[in-house]
Amino acid sequence: MKRVITYGTFDLLHYGHINLLKRAKKLGDYLIVALSTDEFNLNSKNKKCYFDYEKRKALLEAIRYVDLVIPENSWDQKRTDVHQYKVDTFVIGNDWEGKFDFLREEGCEVIYLDRTPEISTTKIKKDLNQV
Ligand code: CTP
Repeated sequence: MKRVITYGTFDLLHYGHINLLKRAKKLGDYLIVALSTDEFNLNSKNKKCYFDYEKRKALLEAIRYVDLVIPENSWDQKRTDVHQYKVDTFVIGNDWEGKFDFLREEGCEVIYLDRTPEISTTKIKKDLNQV
């Protein structure tokens, strides 16, 4: 069984996220989403989420492409996650192009997928603020 992992915040889930998860799942048989916790978002990514961790997790678990959601608490956990969860492929949007190539040293395939144009959580928040 080929195991794939991806990382992200996935706040205000949108079609760009779904498109990423769909393509990620196609790369293997089992898709793990490491979901940034509220603390990690705030302290390390400078992001304040609209939906808290439990709500974002529940939304992801309702998606047919997602098999398991685990917490992302730090930048450094990727190296250990790939071993702990026996990951074959790491995948993420190409806004992170080149940033996680070091995972190849752990025997993991690293793939950057094209982002879906013209949609992001930031854009949704910005547009709604103008109503
Ligand atoms: N993603 C994507 N296409 C988009 C938006 C996001 O493929 N239009 C991907 C990202 O590249 C990442 C994953 O979805 O692999 C989760 O991204 P996240 O940062 O949570 O979503 P954004 O909408 O980019 O959020 P923000 O605006 O807060 O950065």
